[in-house]
Amino acid sequence: MKKIIATGKGGVGKTTTLTTVSLMMAREGKRVIVFDTDPSMNLALSFGVPYQSVCTITEDKADISHELEEGIDASGAKILEDHSVVTEDGIRIVIMGALQHGGDGCLCSAISVIKILLDYVESTGEYDVAIVDSQAGPEVLGRGLASSFDLNLILSEPTAKSSEVSVQVKKLADDLGVKENLLVVNKIDYDSDVRFVANIVGIDISKAIGIPYDRDVVKADKEGELLLDAFPDSAALAQLRNTKDLIEKTVCL
Ligand SMILES: Nc1ncnc2c1ncn2[C@@H]1O[C@H](COP(=O)(O)OP(=O)(O)OP(=O)(O)O)[C@@H](O)[C@H]1O
Ligand SMILES: [Mg+2]
Repeated sequence: MKKIIATGKGGVGKTTTLTTVSLMMAREGKRVIVFDTDPSMNLALSFGVPYQSVCTITEDKADISHELEEGIDASGAKILEDHSVVTEDGIRIVIMGALQHGGDGCLCSAISVIKILLDYVESTGEYDVAIVDSQAGPEVLGRGLASSFDLNLILSEPTAKSSEVSVQVKKLADDLGVKENLLVVNKIDYDSDVRFVANIVGIDISKAIGIPYDRDVVKADKEGELLLDAFPDSAALAQLRNTKDLIEKTVCL
């Protein structure tokens, strides 16, 4: 099972990109599981699944801790079944969730459960690819969740500020031993925007791709529709398809 995480500054397009790429992979027949580790969870909604229909990890922390006492081999299938939903396209979605109460502390224990579930899912051999959507900024890579991952998909807008966050996430992913980095420069106006960001991030241009700013993406988002279905001929979608191809080539999927 290949493991992929998307990282980058807030609002750069992590969730939009992962949703579309996951759908394309699932419709090609790949067995896909996605994990939303962003406390501002909206990955499920991007697939058209209201997040209220999934019991999140943080909502059920006490029960999960109890079940884990039996060991993950004994409890993994049940924990996964009780805390995920499967979309019409066959994508299983697990949501970490948010803190339940003010003053609850950090999300480290919930992240640890996600890591345990990821390892369990890998051991079952039931999925070809696990895709993790993360919260904005580099913090997720400071927690070790992505160690042994195959790919860090760095999302960036073509600005110096966004690129600086991309520099940080690349460094942390390299420190963790993530095998590959790819750079997606989203919302571009010109092809030269890709080279601009790639130079700052220090990534070879062959490992970078651009997606144009496209109002169809915003329209699909506003209408709560899948870009893939609502605007199959959009310019952004064409590049998202190329992004998916580059990911598959990079991780041999
Ligand atoms: N290529 C694009 N053209 C125009 N708008 C886009 C494009 N890609 C994403 N957007 C819009 O940018 C906004 C942020 O996208 P998205 O939620 O995917 O970013 P994110 O990185 O996941 O954000 P967050 O850090 O808050 O999780 C959304 O309104 C989305 O519709
Ligand atoms: Mg997001």
